Amino acid sequence: MQVTSLFPFHKLPYQVWLMMVKRRMFPLLIASALAVMVYIIFTLSRSQPGNHQHLYPRHISDQSITPVNDTKHFMVGAYKEHRVTGCSVRIISIFRRDSVQPLYCVFYCGTHWANGTKAEVQMHSDHFGFPFVTTDVLCPNLPDCNPSHVTLATQADAKLAQNQSFLRIQNLVKMEEEEFQFNFTVCWSNLFGDYNNVLQVTQTLEMYKLLGVQHVVVYNTSCGPDLERLLQSYTQEGFVEVVPWPIDQHMNPSRGWQPIEHGGDIHYYGQLTTLNDCVYRHMYQSRYVLLNDIDEIITPYQHQTLPQMMDVLQRQHPKAEVFLIENHIFPKSQFEPSGKFERPRWRDVPGINIMEHIYREEPDYRIYHPSKMIVRPRAVEQTSVHSVLRNFGQTVKVPPNVCHIIHVRVPLRRGLTKKELHEDKRVWDYERQLVPNVDKALEQAGLLI
Ligand SMILES: *[C@@H]1O[C@H](CO)[C@@H](O)[C@H](O)[C@H]1NC(C)=O
Ligand SMILES: *[C@@H]1O[C@H](CO)[C@@H](O)[C@H](O)[C@H]1NC(C)=O
Ligand SMILES: *[C@@H]1O[C@H](CO)[C@@H](O)[C@H](O)[C@H]1NC(C)=O
Ligand SMILES: *[C@@H]1O[C@H](CO)[C@@H](O)[C@H](O)[C@H]1NC(C)=O
Ligand SMILES: *[C@@H]1O[C@H](CO)[C@@H](O)[C@H](O)[C@H]1NC(C)=O
Repeated sequence: MQVTSLFPFHKLPYQVWLMMVKRRMFPLLIASALAVMVYIIFTLSRSQPGNHQHLYPRHISDQSITPVNDTKHFMVGAYKEHRVTGCSVRIISIFRRDSVQPLYCVFYCGTHWANGTKAEVQMHSDHFGFPFVTTDVLCPNLPDCNPSHVTLATQADAKLAQNQSFLRIQNLVKMEEEEFQFNFTVCWSNLFGDYNNVLQVTQTLEMYKLLGVQHVVVYNTSCGPDLERLLQSYTQEGFVEVVPWPIDQHMNPSRGWQPIEHGGDIHYYGQLTTLNDCVYRHMYQSRYVLLNDIDEIITPYQHQTLPQMMDVLQRQHPKAEVFLIENHIFPKSQFEPSGKFERPRWRDVPGINIMEHIYREEPDYRIYHPSKMIVRPRAVEQTSVHSVLRNFGQTVKVPPNVCHIIHVRVPLRRGLTKKELHEDKRVWDYERQLVPNVDKALEQAGLLI
């Protein structure tokens, strides 16, 4: 296999090919293409039947949840780790806590196999008592291996593991911020049941567009029929990315956060795993990632947009990497009296009209008051819902008068009257663009008659 070290062109990431095209480096481009052809012919000529070492993993998983053979665990995503010394690849996984056994990372190194090396299993601290927990598997560095695919096996021999499902390793190239595709990405934790809150989701997506977000990701187990149409329309447009999340095909996911009350195998349909996977997927794609729920809008109150706000916050706190944003609840049971946004066009669209609910609960600061987050994903190692578990940088609590979450839902502090709530019409400030944009999005999805 010495030939391959002379021609490493077949391992070039696609970005390099793109760059060659963009910069019109045609001689180099042709030479690289020729080298790849020589490589392919060379490898094909070697793969006679009877040669038991396959030249490439035979099964590459295209699922977002892949069982680990001979165990009760699951792999979700494999990511090259550029920040932790001694660790080459991190596999975001779901482990059954009572069944942990020694595991090996078996690499396919682009041109050859490497026998497995002992994996370091890091179960996250927040499992809420459920049998399954989000887990990071750290695969050690291996000399002479530039891994492209990885799997977990119960034994170290690569030959025996060759027929297992391998994951493609993502984040192979450590991109610089200037090259990122997005500045602001929203990660919504998972969608399940027959959730069909179309109007609130449309208003939320259009608010996020006006606030300067470029990309919204949602992990989907299931949803209602109208929301399905809406998400398909936004996916076609390119603003929303839906990641399939068939967790219910592998275990009995819980609809809540307490095993005693809600039963099931894993907290909230595996919400913690999807948030971690989303952070790693966007580590070298998005400058900031917003971690919140589908019915929450992280809204700036002193700036028009999130980029403007983050510029200022980042200048005030140059070392900050995690920004905690207070959650504020706007009860859906309180309506503003003028009825100016009770629009006939929206009457038959299922879901909450957030523009009618402009009264905000004062948080009860004596009890635990949860926040959600804006993070620089490159600084995050492990995240939970309301805080990060392990990270490299500093954490800043953003004052609520600078930014808080608009969360229209059932009241948290029941029995409060309008007088005891704060009027908060921030969404109305965006009315002139928001209302026609919501109409247009609903029309595009075929949800307005
Ligand atoms: C991998 O392990 C097997 C079994 O222990 C051994 O026979 C083989 O030589 C090893 N391969 C390499 C490349 O080290
Ligand atoms: C892998 O699959 C091939 C083709 O089915 C088979 O010949 C080979 O024995 C299998 N290897 C192992 C280790 O199971
Ligand atoms: C997975 O494990 C089962 C049970 O031990 C075994 O029969 C099967 O061959 C393994 N599959 C692969 C692809 O290694
Ligand atoms: C991200 O922000 C920078 C300046 O802060 C800007 O130059 C760049 O165009 C923005 N990227 C996107 C995708 O909007
Ligand atoms: C969400 O997942 C369900 C179940 O797999 C699927 O039927 C539906 O089409 C998915 N929705 C979207 C918008 O991808």
